[in-house]
Amino acid sequence: MSSSLTQDELKTLVGQAALAYVVPGQLVGVGTGSTVNKFIDALATIKDQITGAVSSSEASTARLLALGIPVLDANDAGELAVYIDGADEIDHAGYMIKGGGAALTREKIVAAQSKTFVCIADESKLVDALGAFAVPVEVIPMATARIMRQFARMGGQASLRLKDGAPLVTDNGQHILDVRGLRILKPLDFESEVNQWPGVVTVGVFAHQRAQVCLLGTAAGVKTLTF
Ligand code: 5RP
Repeated sequence: MSSSLTQDELKTLVGQAALAYVVPGQLVGVGTGSTVNKFIDALATIKDQITGAVSSSEASTARLLALGIPVLDANDAGELAVYIDGADEIDHAGYMIKGGGAALTREKIVAAQSKTFVCIADESKLVDALGAFAVPVEVIPMATARIMRQFARMGGQASLRLKDGAPLVTDNGQHILDVRGLRILKPLDFESEVNQWPGVVTVGVFAHQRAQVCLLGTAAGVKTLTF
């Protein structure tokens, strides 16, 4: 295979490769982002083989519906066999940073109700230690300043994510902090600690909801990592 594949082509490759994990006759959990968009496009080609999807964002829901894939409420879906989603970083244990697309809370909810998390990513996302990518944290707005101070005490610099000059508002009506300067050596402990701070809705470290499989798009093709 040529080594000149673009990042977009790598995303298409892993999006298509993820079809192998979709269980016929069942629902599939669907994440959010540009890589997942490639998966949704591929999923449309086998939509008659599944009963529908449980979506992690308004954006993915709109794309699924536009392609004729039914979307069910998570509460009506029961446990899912598989959840397919991208990542901003993934390490060699399947721990991830997610939330670059601001959908981390619903992503974690759908991941939690799924048996297997299949991460689809291009090779630029594979890291030795999490933290070069700023950690997204969904927060209740009135707690923002205090949570920023708590991150500063940990050595992190948190900033409020903006969109068109105003605080970005998530699908859940909350705000996002992006925290730079953290090197996350114990992802399970970090996730547990930050998640219990009052006002934190979800921290974008996915350690308790790590991936079991990663389909990594590389110049040599799709590499399957299992954790
Ligand atoms: C959205 C996410 C995405 O999975 C993550 O940001 C990766 O996105 P992309 O596939 O566009 O690189 O967590 O909240």
